[in-house]
Amino acid sequence: MKPYNLGIVGFGTVGQGIARLLATKQSQLQVNHGFSFRVVGIADPVKGMIYNPNGIPLQAALDAVTNGQRLEEADLGEPGWDSLKLIREGNLDILLEITPTNLRTGEPGITHLREALSQGIHVATTNKGPIALAYAELRDLAESRGAELRFEGTVLSGTPVFNLWRYGLACADIQEVQGIVNGTTNYILTRMAEGMDYEEALKEAQAKGYAETDPTADVEGLDALAKAVILGNVILGGQLRPEEVPTRGITDIQKADVEEALAQGQKWKLLVRVWREQGKVQAQVAPQKVDASHPLYGIDGVTNALTFYSDTLGTTTIVGPGAGSLETGHALLMDLLDIHRTLRQRGTR
Ligand code: HSE
Repeated sequence: MKPYNLGIVGFGTVGQGIARLLATKQSQLQVNHGFSFRVVGIADPVKGMIYNPNGIPLQAALDAVTNGQRLEEADLGEPGWDSLKLIREGNLDILLEITPTNLRTGEPGITHLREALSQGIHVATTNKGPIALAYAELRDLAESRGAELRFEGTVLSGTPVFNLWRYGLACADIQEVQGIVNGTTNYILTRMAEGMDYEEALKEAQAKGYAETDPTADVEGLDALAKAVILGNVILGGQLRPEEVPTRGITDIQKADVEEALAQGQKWKLLVRVWREQGKVQAQVAPQKVDASHPLYGIDGVTNALTFYSDTLGTTTIVGPGAGSLETGHALLMDLLDIHRTLRQRGTR
């Protein structure tokens, strides 16, 4: 079977994570899933931009960037490419869009996705910006061009959210979703409950690499907001816009609040809630006190979790990592396989 031509746009932590998984699991993907591929292009303004129609040797590309080399210097493909040229002229079947999230403009992700989908190129992305800000437009564009759009890694990294919803919860009527979707803030709140100061806990979370480049997005609840909007619009079919969602982060939570909650057998959690009310999808991001009867009470540290409330199953909770190189790379791998399965069902592969 003809291999898929993959293009990787964004070769940072997550881009390298999926490259590592593709390199190490190549034969498993082929033998167990009938998925064969070659990565024909990689475009990243910092790591380098190359094109090779025969397939870029991924391990060599990873070694080059680990050694601080730009990809062009490693002689693994033609130089002179950029992300848009790769999408327009690279003969791609699937784009892996892994550029950093911008929650204000959605760029450069939105432009990359529009460009790819309008050409019928399938897309797997971990970029929260385009899905939070322009999901309906991108979904409709994909549908009109026969392209598949997947974004498992935008919420809970590789811990299955959209795959669980699409397959495991098919036909369940989901009334509400609640989640702990930001590892940095959950880590800080957990460490504060163990006696640490807010500032000290934030520093530790940054040192461990959990926080976004600018931790404001984490502690002010903006990263959680993006995920709330994605969950509300995708799973509940809402039309939420980030600016309309009441959002509070954890910066107001004092050590005394944490201690008081503990004395009452409660814990503070930054909870995301999306639900239906009078036919309209609503969302909220706010710190809340939960007691031991709440499904998310036991979720501590950097771990994320999401609870679905449905007519058939009552509560279903999925717990797992919400960030990380291989963890988010795993989401892209699941997206690739899901695109492949869908195309097979359609009879186009
Ligand atoms: N900074 C985010 C977190 C990473 O702490 O969960 C994933 O979006």
